[in-house]
Amino acid sequence: MFLVPISLAYRKACVVGQGRLAAIYAAGQTSYLGFMDSDLTHRDAKSLLEWQIELGATEAICEAPINRFELEARPAKRSVPQTAENSERADAKSTVPTHAQDPVLVARSAAAAAQNLNSLQAAMAAFDLCDLKRGARQLVFADGIPDARVMIIGEAPGRDEDIQGRPFVGRAGQLLDKMLAAIGLDRAADTAANGVYITNVLPWRPPQNRDPEPGEIAMLLPFLQRHVALVQPEILVLMGNISCQAVLGRKGITRLRGEWAQGFDLPVMPMFHPAYLLRNPQAKRDAWADLLAIQARLNTATG
Ligand code: URA
Repeated sequence: MFLVPISLAYRKACVVGQGRLAAIYAAGQTSYLGFMDSDLTHRDAKSLLEWQIELGATEAICEAPINRFELEARPAKRSVPQTAENSERADAKSTVPTHAQDPVLVARSAAAAAQNLNSLQAAMAAFDLCDLKRGARQLVFADGIPDARVMIIGEAPGRDEDIQGRPFVGRAGQLLDKMLAAIGLDRAADTAANGVYITNVLPWRPPQNRDPEPGEIAMLLPFLQRHVALVQPEILVLMGNISCQAVLGRKGITRLRGEWAQGFDLPVMPMFHPAYLLRNPQAKRDAWADLLAIQARLNTATG
């Protein structure tokens, strides 16, 4: 199944015919119950809804219709991402500190001010400079045992995580739990010794689960760094390319996986992402070897 935003259905509707579009609009858009507020019959509302589904819409993303043409007619709010450098040039006389315009600098000072995980979560929830926040249902901060020896860093929330507000709760998350259980680790463990702490590079779901953009990773990196510094795990496990890019500054998981590296001043084990393992079960053999390497390192450090 693939996700197509309602706005795309809306655009296609314009091509198909104004009459039909107007009817959908009148139906209160994506809500099947919307027909109650319009002149549409139950049958018409149902077939219009089915028609949107045929166009590829699989999720209602907001309750009220958005006219994208009107939005586009307005001047873009921030077409060029502002940096300390260009905002300084553009407005040398501004009394607002330039730093307030630069998402990376704003994130850095917000993250540095957080003295514990609760205040870090609050600082991230208050961070308004990442557009992903507007499309997501909620912030997905972390799950598991904050005193755990192992901290896992995934990519970004998907649909299930966006709904539940916890990382790795969908199919990939279920596989991750099984993988961890195989080496005696559990996000719901009673003790820190066999606990695990889980977060993502991005706390908000990217639209249609697209890959995070470099600018998004850069502006959220200070929060991730602070997150790791507050948790102080012994080992970081990086799931897939995006977290390798964020923590190691390198991609190429096939080459990186299975070899201990150093990132954020900690030993780091890059692994195939569980979502990749679901699509490529033959790679589970490599993942098993990586899990054993993690287990061996934990045992050596204790023993
Ligand atoms: N994939 C991730 O990388 N993180 C999640 O939380 C869920 C799926």
